[in-house]
Amino acid sequence: MRVIVEPDRDEVGRRAAQFVAELVRRRPTCVLGLATGGTVLGTYAELIRMHREEGLDFSRVVSFNLDEYVGLGPTHPQSYRHFMQQNFFDHINIDVRNTHVPDGRALDFEAHCEQYEKHIREEGGIDLQILGIGGDGHIAFNEPGSSLGSRTRLKTLTEETVRDNARFFDNEDEVPRLAITMGVGTILESRRCLLIACGESKAKAIRETIEGPVTAQITASALQLHREVVAILDEEAARLLERREYYRQVEHAQTLMRSGQMRPLSPTR
Ligand code: F6R
Repeated sequence: MRVIVEPDRDEVGRRAAQFVAELVRRRPTCVLGLATGGTVLGTYAELIRMHREEGLDFSRVVSFNLDEYVGLGPTHPQSYRHFMQQNFFDHINIDVRNTHVPDGRALDFEAHCEQYEKHIREEGGIDLQILGIGGDGHIAFNEPGSSLGSRTRLKTLTEETVRDNARFFDNEDEVPRLAITMGVGTILESRRCLLIACGESKAKAIRETIEGPVTAQITASALQLHREVVAILDEEAARLLERREYYRQVEHAQTLMRSGQMRPLSPTR
């Protein structure tokens, strides 16, 4: 896993947006996997700025969101569809027909989840999956104990997640207890993952994810099995990482290589 530590939340947002923008420029028809929540707001704000000021073109981009609360329709102010419209889609030139968020009011959830997976496959799979992380180490709504091979399905939220997310609702009782979520297996199939974390409250989960054993108790740790994950963290979220100095050296070497000041060793003949 490549680990990048930035000084603060704003820099994390800018850095993550650069990864997304680079892909969108190189492959205008790319498929993005998107997340909701506080962490990704800075990334979306920077992408909106790039669209407005630099003409970053989303017109042919396709997107799939990770999850949605069960019971909330698209216009409910706390639904993830609403979040995406308000914080991202309404401010860029993406074609709304190319944006996909699970339907929290599907009549047949099993069929809907299967269809969601099929749709991702039909679009050629996810090129870049953006991920936040829960304080309990979840990615999407794959709570501790979720199978590391899981697919899109219904999931019961833990009390910790309900408490964390209550800040967006009037009170804790209003937070839905069920969500539709892509599975860990679904996420691991994306070609590249961008794991973003900010703040002290994520430090323990980040340490366990990056330096702990792979375990279904910290579903983000399954990312260690993925061949291309970039973790972008602020200082606070990176605070408990033991190998921080090494990650810094790796980034420094990468910068030197990109600028031509250092060359990779040529293969022995
Ligand atoms: C949301 C999602 C969640 C969040 C995680 C962190 O679509 O998939 O896994 O990324 O709960 O949320 P914040 O960023 O609000 O701390």
